[in-house]
Amino acid sequence: MLAMNYRGPFRVRLDRKPDPEILHPYDAIVRVTRSCICGSDLHLYHGLVPDTRVGMTFGHEFTGVVGEVGSEVRKLKVGDQVLVPFNIACGSCNFCKQELFGNCHESNSQATAVGGIFGYSHTAGGYAGGQAEYVRVPYADVGPTVIPEGMDLDDAVLLTDVVPTGYQAAEMGGIKKGDTVVVFGAGPVGIMAARCAWLFGAARVIIIDHLEYRLEFARNYAQCEAYNLRSLGDPVLFLKKTTDHYGADVCIDAVGCEAAGDTMQTLLGRKMLMQGGSATALHWAINSVKKGGIVSIVGVYGPIDTLVPIGNVVNKGLTIRANQASVKRLLPRLIEHVQSGVLNPKGLITHRVPLEEVSEAYHIFSAKLDNCIKPILIPSAA
Ligand SMILES: NC(=O)c1ccc[n+]([C@@H]2O[C@H](COP(=O)([O-])OP(=O)(O)OC[C@H]3O[C@@H](n4cnc5c(N)ncnc54)[C@H](O)[C@@H]3O)[C@@H](O)[C@H]2O)c1
Ligand SMILES: [Zn+2]
Ligand SMILES: [Zn+2]
Repeated sequence: MLAMNYRGPFRVRLDRKPDPEILHPYDAIVRVTRSCICGSDLHLYHGLVPDTRVGMTFGHEFTGVVGEVGSEVRKLKVGDQVLVPFNIACGSCNFCKQELFGNCHESNSQATAVGGIFGYSHTAGGYAGGQAEYVRVPYADVGPTVIPEGMDLDDAVLLTDVVPTGYQAAEMGGIKKGDTVVVFGAGPVGIMAARCAWLFGAARVIIIDHLEYRLEFARNYAQCEAYNLRSLGDPVLFLKKTTDHYGADVCIDAVGCEAAGDTMQTLLGRKMLMQGGSATALHWAINSVKKGGIVSIVGVYGPIDTLVPIGNVVNKGLTIRANQASVKRLLPRLIEHVQSGVLNPKGLITHRVPLEEVSEAYHIFSAKLDNCIKPILIPSAA
């Protein structure tokens, strides 16, 4: 089959790889119909996540058609059109029972933090991903969800990560009616988080980024205020001033370990790799939320040893909540939101690229060229 192949930092290409096979009675093989590139893939592409191995196929956001099922698969049938959550979850461990599907203990038994993830580094189990023609899907009766009749595949594929992650970011923020919410990062995840903040009753939603085209997109898509961090001087001071000097009720970090905006953090964490990435957005989130506020983190901090102002967390009495999105838990509600028109995920898609051009798609998304918000890859058979 054709599949994306990681060759080292900033180098990916399309290669022929062996077709995946059923390795376990609970597996299914899925023929991919759509697969996205995510900001999380960029951390891999930029060589920042430990144990990202040459030869890996990335891709944790995909839809497809079930081509084959293992002998113990009961719910899924050959021919089903499915969307597949990015978390690989067994469905029966202690964590899955609490609906913490992103923290499954079985799918990534080497680790005690994150569960298995498709197409990520070996720290997330080393499973091959969906930027390919076919993919092996373990625990096939647990994660994959049959795409409801009439739902657009472009909406469905965004229900595998971006929509639940944005929604969970807002949910973890504990947003109450009348709250002011600040979202750092106007990528697909941050824009979706801003959109979802309204659903929880926010009275004011502010998004911060340094890419003008994304701020403009966010203003239209999420109907929020949007500010360029480069023009704010000190973003923390600006946010304090605009919130009666108290700070925001909720701050959401939808940036993660590759934040711009602080020369020292960029130099030490992203250029010289002397600390694990830069935590500038998290820094700003902690410092611009009000005392007793909530910081919700969905930005990924894959590298270890990231420096954050932990003293201020203590002195301000903050609640910080973070996790990988628990996609399966949120899907029923989010499918309803898409079907009723409350959410319009496919509106985030700016680039539809043949799988053959995967290398170009990574370049455009990584370098933020051509007003790119969200690229999806389409195999020729789809
Ligand atoms: N927890 C989860 O389940 C989960 C799921 C998906 C993605 N993620 C993570 O969420 C983050 C966002 O994903 P995405 O796909 O939107 O990525 P993206 O790279 O498209 O967007 C990140 C945005 O942050 C902006 N940015 C950089 N520095 C900033 C700063 N200091 N302040 C404000 N904005 C800044 C960038 O310009 C960019 O627009 C990534 O870290 C990704 O790994 C987490
Ligand atoms: Zn993703
Ligand atoms: Zn589990």
